[in-house]
Amino acid sequence: MTADDYRPGLEGVVAGETAISTIAGGLQYRGYSIDVLADQASFEETAYLVLFGELPTAEELNAFRNRLARSSSVPAEVLRFLRSVPNAAPLMDVLRTATSMLAHWDPDAADNSHEANVRKTERLIAQIPVIVAARYRISQDKEPVGPDSRCSFAENVLRMLLRQSPDQRAVRAMDVSLILYMEHEFNASTFSARVVCSTLSDLHSSITAAIGALKGPLHGGANERVLRVLEEIGSAERAESWVREAFEKKVRIMGFGHRVYKQGDPRATYLKQRCAELAEQAGKQEMEIMAETIERIVREEKGLPPNLDWPSARLYHYLGLPVELYTPLFVVSRVVGWCAHVIEQLDNNRLIRPRSRYTGPSNRPWQAIADR
Ligand code: SDX
Repeated sequence: MTADDYRPGLEGVVAGETAISTIAGGLQYRGYSIDVLADQASFEETAYLVLFGELPTAEELNAFRNRLARSSSVPAEVLRFLRSVPNAAPLMDVLRTATSMLAHWDPDAADNSHEANVRKTERLIAQIPVIVAARYRISQDKEPVGPDSRCSFAENVLRMLLRQSPDQRAVRAMDVSLILYMEHEFNASTFSARVVCSTLSDLHSSITAAIGALKGPLHGGANERVLRVLEEIGSAERAESWVREAFEKKVRIMGFGHRVYKQGDPRATYLKQRCAELAEQAGKQEMEIMAETIERIVREEKGLPPNLDWPSARLYHYLGLPVELYTPLFVVSRVVGWCAHVIEQLDNNRLIRPRSRYTGPSNRPWQAIADR
């Protein structure tokens, strides 16, 4: 190793192997293109694929769905915690704490075997949306609504958040967003989870670390900021002047740019069409015009294409979901990818411990405190 091996932010560094997904040549989960999965699959089918490596048979899918339905109960102590937190507490912070708490009531908490981690994964997939929805409704002084085992995962997410029974176009849009958010190779939050479990620490510790990493606005936190920007701009007429002002101030425009995708994020391309359909249904075409103006200028003048967060924020807005739910919804989906990576890391573990390039002083003589 030499100092020349140093890559700031590990940019371009291959830090491990994975069979779960690849970004090269378009995003694929276990060899299936995300366009095909978003077109054909459900969240549950895709989660099964990401976790177990194969698309499920009808029988396997049914059994998986039943296990998730049986695993969605959240300990009363965690629900009490959700009621005890000040309303101003950010939902991502509450979710980080609640996820960590779940370990205390998980019967497999101390078992780091492959089989136990699969069981814990299925419990987390089922519990996290219940926690997100319960916390959101409690913060709105409303009673939580539990999942209905007769409904799909995506439909339950919408029902628990908005209480009403959503129409099928909304359910499909949620399903697609959860498929597209599910997995993305060694992104910052996934890599955080792999670093933690590479010390042979437990699954809940790894997922808690990943939630902390995802919260950041350079990563998952961007989707909330995208909508706040669009609401701040307010009208299509103001879009161009806002962008030029942002360029002047050299501020980061949330929802644009990506560490890996330099020619465009295929997920953003896919979701853009869904946005247009939902905007029309929601009577929000002006926001689409605004978004298109911003996208054109940023792409043409900065060479920065949009990433997934740029359309997903609008899609959630058109579904009637409030901004503070956007990054937690990213967690609801990405917990599948995180857990798959933890299980893969532990199946063939090697402690993740890179080196650093030293830039501080050397060989300094000791000085007694009286002489300092
Ligand atoms: C996600 O990694 C993943 O896979 C993540 C993710 C996943 O599924 O897990 O895809 C999800 O996190 C998507 C990204 C969401 N974040 C944002 O939308 C925040 C805004 N985007 C950025 O800040 C930025 O693009 C990053 C952090 C995403 C990537 O940054 P890099 O690769 O570190 O690039 P950089 O910061 O070195 O920027 C290179 C140049 C800089 O200009 P110069 O200083 O060289 O003149 O591009 C500019 C940057 O200023 N730039 C931007 C910009 N992104 C990069 N300028 C304005 N607005 C932006 N959004």
